[in-house]
Amino acid sequence: MCGITGYIGEQNAADILVDGLKRLEYRGYDSCGIAVVDSKNALYLRRVSGRVAALETLVAKGPPKGGRTGVGHTRWATHGAPSEDNAHPHTDCSEQVVVVHNGIIENYLALKEKLLAQGHKFKSETDTEVIAHLIEEKLKHLHVQEKAVRSDMLEPVFFEAFRHAVGELKGSFALAVVWARCPGMIMAARMYSPLVIGLGKGEHFIASDVSAFLKHTKRVIFVNDGEMAAVRKDSMDFYTFQGKKTSHEPVTIQWDSTMAEKGGYRHFMLKEIHEQAEAVENTLRGRLLPLDGEVLGRELLMPVEFMRAVETVQFIACGTAYHAGMVGRGLFEHFGINAEADFASEFTDRAKLLDKNTLVVAISQSGETADTIFAVREARAGGAKVLAITNTVGSTLTREADYVLHTHCGPEIGVASTKAFLGQLAAIYLVAGHFAAAKGLLDKTDARAYAEELLRIPRHIEEILAREAEIEKIAAAFASSEHFLFISRRLNFPIALEGALKIKEISYVHAEGYAAGEMKHGPIAIIYKGMPLLAVAPSSSSLDLMAGNVEEAKARGADVVAIVDEDSKKTVKASRYIVLPRTGELFSPLLTVIPLQLFAYYVALAKKCDIDKPRNLAKSVTVR
Ligand code: G6P
Repeated sequence: MCGITGYIGEQNAADILVDGLKRLEYRGYDSCGIAVVDSKNALYLRRVSGRVAALETLVAKGPPKGGRTGVGHTRWATHGAPSEDNAHPHTDCSEQVVVVHNGIIENYLALKEKLLAQGHKFKSETDTEVIAHLIEEKLKHLHVQEKAVRSDMLEPVFFEAFRHAVGELKGSFALAVVWARCPGMIMAARMYSPLVIGLGKGEHFIASDVSAFLKHTKRVIFVNDGEMAAVRKDSMDFYTFQGKKTSHEPVTIQWDSTMAEKGGYRHFMLKEIHEQAEAVENTLRGRLLPLDGEVLGRELLMPVEFMRAVETVQFIACGTAYHAGMVGRGLFEHFGINAEADFASEFTDRAKLLDKNTLVVAISQSGETADTIFAVREARAGGAKVLAITNTVGSTLTREADYVLHTHCGPEIGVASTKAFLGQLAAIYLVAGHFAAAKGLLDKTDARAYAEELLRIPRHIEEILAREAEIEKIAAAFASSEHFLFISRRLNFPIALEGALKIKEISYVHAEGYAAGEMKHGPIAIIYKGMPLLAVAPSSSSLDLMAGNVEEAKARGADVVAIVDEDSKKTVKASRYIVLPRTGELFSPLLTVIPLQLFAYYVALAKKCDIDKPRNLAKSVTVR
C-alpha cells in the first residue's frame, strides 16, 4: 500500500527514483511523484494522478540532471481521492521539507488543527502533509527559518527537527524526508510499515521493498519499527526515536534483479503462473526428507516435543493466503489434528481462546498485511505460539512470529497472487506432513509415500501448463459472461473460492465460489441458462456427490466446465473439460488451482483488463 523510494549518491536521482517506483507499482498505482534536490538547494517536484509511466514521461521533459538526492512515491489512496494534489511527495509551507510516506498517521487531524492554528497552509487532503508542516514547525523552534544556520549545523538541526516530529506521530509509517537546504542527508523512519536501505558504493537507496533497487545492490539493511536512519551517500546512522544509536549488519538478498522483470511474458501474472513448478520445488527443497518432524524442527528451531504437544492449529490470513489456510485446515483435520482457519480481519474473540498448545499459522506473501500482523499480535498476547509462512525475508511478520518458514517463490509482482499461493500450499503440506509424522499419525511408509507424491507435483504442474492453449480457448468462450460460479467440495472448496477471487480481482466481473453441497440451499436459485459454472472435480471420495451437484446445476441451465482427471472425467458430465494429471486426493488442490488461474487470466485478457494492476487493489495492504 504505497511504495516509497529514496536515493542519495552521484547518479541522476530522478531516473533512479522513477525506475524504483516502476518496480513498486504493485503496492499502489493511483498517483505518484518524485522530488529531487540539487547541490544548489533547488527543489524539483513532479507529481501526476495516474501511473508511473505518465510520471516518467513528465520527468523525461527535464530538468534536472543535477539532482543527486531525492524521494519518490507511488500511492494507493487512503486519505483523499487519487489526484495530483494528494499525490506525494508533500511539502511544507516553505516548500523546503519534502515527505514521502507509506502508512496512516492516526492522529493527523489533531496535528493538523494545531498546525493550522500556527498558521500553516495545507494543500492536500492527506494525512501525510502534516508531517512536512510538523518538521517545518520543529525547524522554526530550532531557529533555522533564517538563512543564518552554519552549514555544518544543517545536518544536526534537520536530524533533531525530524526526530521531534516523528516522536509526535501515531499510527503506521515508513518515511523518507528531504530538506532542500541539506541535500547531503535523507532522514527516514519506520513504524509498522516496511522500510529497507540498499547499500551501494558512494550511494544509498531507500525503499519499501528491495525489488526497487535490486539492480543496483543486493546488500541491504532492514530498518526496525521505532527506528530512524540518517542516510548520506557514503555513511548512515541508525537511532531509536529517542535518539539512542543502534546498529545493523547488512544482509545479502538472494533474489536476482531479473526475477522482478517480465522475461518475455506479456504480464507478470502469466510469468508467475509459469513459475509455479519452480516455486513448489524451491519451497520443498531440503525440507521434506525424512518426513519426521526433525528436519523442519531444525530449520524453524521448533522442538519436536512442541509439535507433539500442539493440539490445535489455527490459520490466519487474508485474500489468497486465507484460501491456502483453508486447505491447511482440511489437511490437518485429515490427519486428525484439530484445525481452524479465519480471516485475519475477523480473528478477534477467538484470540482469547488460544493457549500454549495452539499453534497459530499466519500466512502472508508480503509479510506486511496489517490485518494479519495485528491478528498475530493478538494471538501471541493470548499465549499462542505463531508460525509465519511468508515469501518476504525481513518482513514485519517475520519479526513478530516465534517461528518463520520462508516460501522461496522469488518476487511476486502481479497483484493477483498465483505462485505465492502455490508456495504457501507447498509450505503447508510440508508442515502438516512433519507434524503428522512427529505425532505418530503417519507411519514411516506413509510418510515416505506422502513426501514422494509431493515431490511429483512440480512435474504435474508443468504438464498442466503445457495445455495452456486449451484453457485459453475455453476462457475465450466465456469472455463476455458477467457471472461465474465455481463449486467444489472438501479440500478443493477453497480452490473454488480462489478461482472466483482470481476472476473478481482481474476481470471485475461477479464470481462466486461455493461448497457444491451448499448450492441447493440457496445459491442454485441464481443459475440461469448458459451461466458458466466451473466444477472442480478431481477423483476423490466425494466425487459421486460432486457429480450429482453438477447434474443439479446443469438441470437449471448451467454451462459446466469440469476440472477433472482421466478417471473422474468418466463420472462428471460437463460440456467442456480441463483434464489434469491424476494425483492423490489429498494433493489435488496443488493442481486444480492452476487451470483456474489461467482461466481467469485469459478471461481478463479478452476483456482487455489491466491484469497486473487491477483497479482499486494493491498487492500489499498495510491498512486495517
Ligand atoms: C491483498 C492482495 C491479495 C492478497 C492479500 C493478502 O489484498 O491484493 O492478492 O492475497 O492482500 O496478502 P499477503 O501479502 O498477506 O499474502
